[in-house]
Formats: sequence, C-alpha cells, structure tokens
Amino acid sequence: MLEIRDLQFTIRKDGQDIPLLRDISVKIPAGHFVAIVGPSGCGKSTLLKTIAGINVESGGDLLWDGRNLSEDGDLQPDEFGYVPQFSIAFDELTVEESIDNAIQLRLKTRSGAEMEQIADRIIEEVGLDAIRDRRVSVLSGGQKRRLGLALEMTTAPRLLLCDEVTSGLDPKSESEIVNLLHRLSKSEGRIVASVTHSLGHLDLYDSVLVLYAGRVVYHGPPSALAHYFGVAFAEEVYPALATREPDQWAASWEKHRQDYYAAMPGFTEPAPGTGSSRDAAPARRSKRPGFLTQLFVLLGRRWTIFFRDKTQLLLQVAMLLIFPAVVVLFALDGVPSLKRASETIARDVKDLMKDSQVTENNMEVGGFVSGLVMFQVVLLALMGSNNSAREVAGERLIFEKEKLGGLRVGSYLGSKLCFLATLVTVQSVWMYLFVNIFAQVECRFWVHAGLLVLVNAAMTAICLGISAAMSSPDQASLLSIYLVGFQLPLSGAVLALPKAFEPVLQPFISAYWSWSGIVRSLENGYYPAVDMVTEATLRQAGLCVVVLGLHLLGGVILAFGGAARSRWSH
Ligand SMILES: Nc1ncnc2c1ncn2[C@@H]1O[C@H](COP(=O)(O)OP(=O)(O)OP(=O)(O)O)[C@@H](O)[C@H]1O
Ligand SMILES: [Mg+2]
Repeated sequence: MLEIRDLQFTIRKDGQDIPLLRDISVKIPAGHFVAIVGPSGCGKSTLLKTIAGINVESGGDLLWDGRNLSEDGDLQPDEFGYVPQFSIAFDELTVEESIDNAIQLRLKTRSGAEMEQIADRIIEEVGLDAIRDRRVSVLSGGQKRRLGLALEMTTAPRLLLCDEVTSGLDPKSESEIVNLLHRLSKSEGRIVASVTHSLGHLDLYDSVLVLYAGRVVYHGPPSALAHYFGVAFAEEVYPALATREPDQWAASWEKHRQDYYAAMPGFTEPAPGTGSSRDAAPARRSKRPGFLTQLFVLLGRRWTIFFRDKTQLLLQVAMLLIFPAVVVLFALDGVPSLKRASETIARDVKDLMKDSQVTENNMEVGGFVSGLVMFQVVLLALMGSNNSAREVAGERLIFEKEKLGGLRVGSYLGSKLCFLATLVTVQSVWMYLFVNIFAQVECRFWVHAGLLVLVNAAMTAICLGISAAMSSPDQASLLSIYLVGFQLPLSGAVLALPKAFEPVLQPFISAYWSWSGIVRSLENGYYPAVDMVTEATLRQAGLCVVVLGLHLLGGVILAFGGAARSRWSH
C-alpha cells in the first residue's frame, strides 16, 4: 500500500512561496492501477517526482508498506520504477543492448545466463521480441515507451510510476500500452500509477485520481467519475472543473473521500498511527552491482556509442588528421631556417649571438618555434573541449534516471575519465609524433609530449566539469568554446599581457603553462631564441606540470560536484 498524507510541495521563486502540491491525501493499495489526470500544469508530474524522491516534499508523509519514507529514507532503487515522458535510451544502442545495460547497471546478476533469462522475460513481457535487434533511433513512439517500461521492469519493482507514457501515440498504440500497464499491475501485487491526458480506456483502471491546481479533487472508481462531476461523459470533466474554484472542489472531495474509499476494495483505513517505523516492513535490500562493474558497463557502452555515432567518429578522425597537418603546413616555411639555425646555434651560441645576422636569424627561429608549439597546444586545447563539452550535459536526463536507479556518480565519472583519457592520449601523442616528423624541435620526448598530453587532459577535464555543471549541452558547448578561444590571447605568448593582469590571468590559462614549459625546455639554444621574441615569463617544465595537474584536478572536482547534483529540469 502506498499512502500519501497531507503532502505539500512548495517551491520558492523570486522570494515567494509557490505551492505546487497542497494537502494531497490518497491511498493506493497493492496491485492497483491508478490513472492520474488533470489539466496541464495541475501538478501530475510533480506528484510522481515527489513520490519517486526526485522532489523533496515540504510537508506531509509518504508511507510505503507501513514505512514512513519521509523519516526512514526514500524508496530503494529496486523498489520502484519511474518512466519519464522523455526517451531514456541511447539512439545508438539496440533494444536488447539497452535492456542488458539496464540489468547490468541495476542488478547484481550471478551469471550471463541469468542475465539473459531476465532480459528474455522482460522483452517477452513488454512485447518487444520482434524488434529486439533494432536500434533505438528507429523505434516508433509506442515502441520507445515499451522500451522505457522494459528498462524499469529490470528490477521487477513493486511500484511503477509512469509519466504520460501514452501521450502522442495513435489510438491503437495507446490502447496497447494501457493494456500492458494494466497487465503489469496484475502481477506481483504491483502498483502502477500512470499520469495521462487521455480519458479513454478509463475502464481498465482501478481508480482515477483527478488533480486540479495542485489539489486532489477526486479519487475513486472510473465508473463514478462523470457522475461525481455532474457530467454525462468523462471527457467533459475538464470543462466542468473550471466552473468552480480549486479550493471548493478540494473541500467537496474531502467530504466524500471516506465514502468512496469505503466502497472500493483494498482501501479500508489502517488503524490510526500505523505507518510509523516501528511497524514498518524492512526496506528491500538494494542489490546493485559493485562500483567497478558499473564503471566497466558504462565504459563498454561509451565505446560502443563512440564507434556507432558516425558523425562524432568522423569529426574525431578529421581532427586527428587535419589538426596536426595544419601545424605542419604552418611549419613548412620555417623548417629551412630551423635547420640552419640548429647548425649555427649549436656551434657556439655566445659568440654568434653578437653577430646581428645570426641574431636576426635567431629571432626568426624563436618566433617560429614559439608559434609552432603554441599552435600544437591551442589545437589540442580545442580537441579537449570538443572531447567533453557535451559529454555529461548531452545525456543528463538519462544519467539522472540511471542515478535514480542506483548508478554511482563515481562509477559514471570514472567511466568518462577512462574513455576521455584514451582520446586525450591518442590525440596528443599523435600530434607530437606527426609534427615531429616534419619539424623537429629539439626537446625531450617526455617533456614535450607530456605537456601536450597534459594541456589536452586539463582542457578535457575542465570542459567535462562545465558539462556536468551546466543545465544544457548548448550552454556547456558555448562556454567551452569561449574558454578555448581565450587561451591564445590570454596566454601572453603572442601579445604581451598588461603587467597588472598577468599574475591574475596566467595561472588559469592552461595553454600558457603547456607552451611555456615546452619552450623553456627546448635544447640547442632554442630556448634563448624564443626568450628573445617573447615578453612572457617562461617557466620550468616541472612547475608547468604541477599547474596543469591542478587544472586537471579542478576540472575533475567540478565534474564530480556537477554530476552529484540533481538536475532534472530541462
Ligand atoms: N522546478 C519548478 N520550478 C518552478 N515551477 C515548477 C517547477 N516544477 C513544476 N513547476 C510548475 O508547477 C506546475 C505543475 O507542473 P507539472 O509539471 O507537475 O504539471 P503537469 O500536471 O504534469 O502538467 P502537464 O500535463 O503539462 O505535464 C506548473 O505550473 C509548472 O510550471
Ligand atoms: Mg507533466
């Protein structure tokens, strides 16, 4: 039994309290199929989210099998399923893969055979057998809703909360889904609460709950609905609601509530005071898989999506090929002077520096080497932002949904970091090797390649942080692009920064630290040559590694903080 007593949910906006749910008191017995209806904006989704624990109630109690959820903690992830209106599966995966993933993330299965058995049962139950190998991207609206239900059925929950899973469907698909929900409510004593706009198929529901402006104005058998509101057909209930104030409807329902509940099976009042934790049935033990299992399942899924998302894949390959080639193209003109300089500088730097011809040549080489390194650094920073700007923000609702189902934030971010670390390493080392073939600047491999990897890693981590902290992928992308755009001008490598700004800005500019560390470590006199042409202070590579490490850490911390926050609104 799910019992809601005097539930209130109020939000604060512009300094004012706005009540979205007021004095909600309803009971829903086991095995019950209830429709939650009401005009748009009356609080149906808000009610479901409050039951699911996404919204924290402002007052009142939620009792589940005698357990007071307000006092004893929310429903466990395996006790309930919440099917939101939006699609919660990845387009690139097949139906079966999506279900397998959900099982692996939510259930501690003992063997592959057991998992297969569970998947087969669910696919059969929701009627997706014929299209189990089909990609989510090509599913029809009705098939997507079925998949949404299937993902929630993985834990065989005792409470299934569905938000408009029939809206936008043709009458036949709608009828099939309502019948499916009805069937699901008739097994294992499962409560199915379904928010719907449609007043068709009401006869399949055990009861109908009507909300109006955040209040309960009816909760009784579907057959009595029209009569209660004094209309001939259920479809006329909405216009009838507008004839009286919400408070009047709510007060009138208060008077009738007991009579209606007494007439419905399973609704008899529990003895006063029950629902305290003393009588509570113990919470079902959460059997979620371990930290590493969740991490590896997500990592596997991320790579599958990476190789199937042709646009992203193409973009990555194009960047991998074009960016280093662009650097080389830029370098070609300078390479002869680089070779010449390399020979002359090496002979005797001190003597030759006196010679104005050599000085001029040195400045040319200095400018060229500095530009070459900065070019590599900035393009890797750009790759970094492209790697991760949409990584979390682009799948936020799916992630929130999976968190609700027991996914650890640590496993999620761990999988992202493993995936991104591979991209970063390949991109940076390849950039180093490719450019080095054509324009070799003398610098130790570990310093040069290491600082290139680090600037890419730092930018990837910071943009991952932005992605986790922002509420939309567009916001996250925009901010990340700005961040990259400012790297070059604010590094002080090209144009000197005003002295007053340098100590304030430079610590935060990753590109500066990578560039600075590399050119400071150049051998055979290149470093003094660069020093002649730049006013920026060139730092020891060790310090640069530490600062870039801090940027990386800052990004990861921001990503963790952002991911741990609940972000359901879209
Ligand atoms: N986080 C929020 N901040 C501000 N207002 C909110 C928030 N969540 C919901 N609301 C407001 O609360 C009211 C109820 O919203 P809710 O989404 O529950 O309505 P609904 O009955 O599900 O409507 P619909 O049928 O259109 O989906 C709406 O007016 C909505 O704008
Ligand atoms: Mg809604």
